[in-house]
Amino acid sequence: MQNRIAVISNAGGSGKTTLSVHIAYEMSLYGLSVGLIDLDPQGSLSLFCGLQQPEPEDTLASVLQNDFAGKWPLEHCWSENTNNVEVIQGGMILTRVSDEMVLHRRGAYLLGDCLKDYPLTHDLLLLDCPATLGPLTLLALSACTHILVPVQLEPKSIQGSAKLLEWVYHQSKQLRLEPQPQILGFVPNQYDPRRATHRQILEDLPTQLDQLGIHCFPAVRDSAEFINASGQGLPLHLYRNNHPASGDFKEISERIVKLIGKKVKRKK
Ligand SMILES: Nc1ncnc2c1ncn2[C@@H]1O[C@H](COP(=O)(O)OP(=O)(O)OP(=O)(O)O)[C@@H](O)[C@H]1O
Ligand SMILES: [Mg+2]
Repeated sequence: MQNRIAVISNAGGSGKTTLSVHIAYEMSLYGLSVGLIDLDPQGSLSLFCGLQQPEPEDTLASVLQNDFAGKWPLEHCWSENTNNVEVIQGGMILTRVSDEMVLHRRGAYLLGDCLKDYPLTHDLLLLDCPATLGPLTLLALSACTHILVPVQLEPKSIQGSAKLLEWVYHQSKQLRLEPQPQILGFVPNQYDPRRATHRQILEDLPTQLDQLGIHCFPAVRDSAEFINASGQGLPLHLYRNNHPASGDFKEISERIVKLIGKKVKRKK
């Protein structure tokens, strides 16, 4: 079965889009193909991928219509460097889709239905979710096989993540998802070792998560270069070759490659 990872967090700015983009690029270095799907009306995935804001008919909204016949609006990104990453863009039109979903008979299952009827052939799909646990995130929940949760090392974010886990378990049960999506892990983001709170939370978090049977990946450090790279529509790897922070995705990438199960080697 195709691996589909939903990147979910109920906190704004925790690093969902950053994580999605960097995992996608990492997978491309292994020669694996990735479909990046933006479920966020903000459409920041387009910006981070160096793409123009799309017309409504070139977004995920066109997929979620009753007359969808399998023409996925895929757009290549970072095409000077890779052929392996394609994006399905989001945007404001998704707010309308979100409103209409409530009245649709298949509501939360719409994306999963489209993927069943018209499968995408990528080795991995990454679903970049909005910060709200609303209808659009439900679409991702019911279509995904795994969930990855970026979290900032601050008490508010940690408390929010506990609520997120409750939401995932509750909704998966209500939607009768079979099998239920697995939590692939938490990814502490924007780690600044000079901050005592960050150090303390990072020390405690793996044990706390372990008690829930959830893996905690190594932290992604705080670096202004992530902001600069996203402004240029690039992953850090392409913006600053060999920047140490791009190595922070190593363990996550290796875990996902293992999940995909193909014998592949990383290029650089
Ligand atoms: N490790 C990091 N170090 C420094 N800045 C970061 C890091 N990760 C993300 N950022 C920056 O923080 C901001 C929020 O990140 P991002 O957009 O990935 O979060 P998000 O969870 O997708 O936000 P939203 O909830 O708005 O969708 C962006 O400007 C991004 O460049
Ligand atoms: Mg985002």
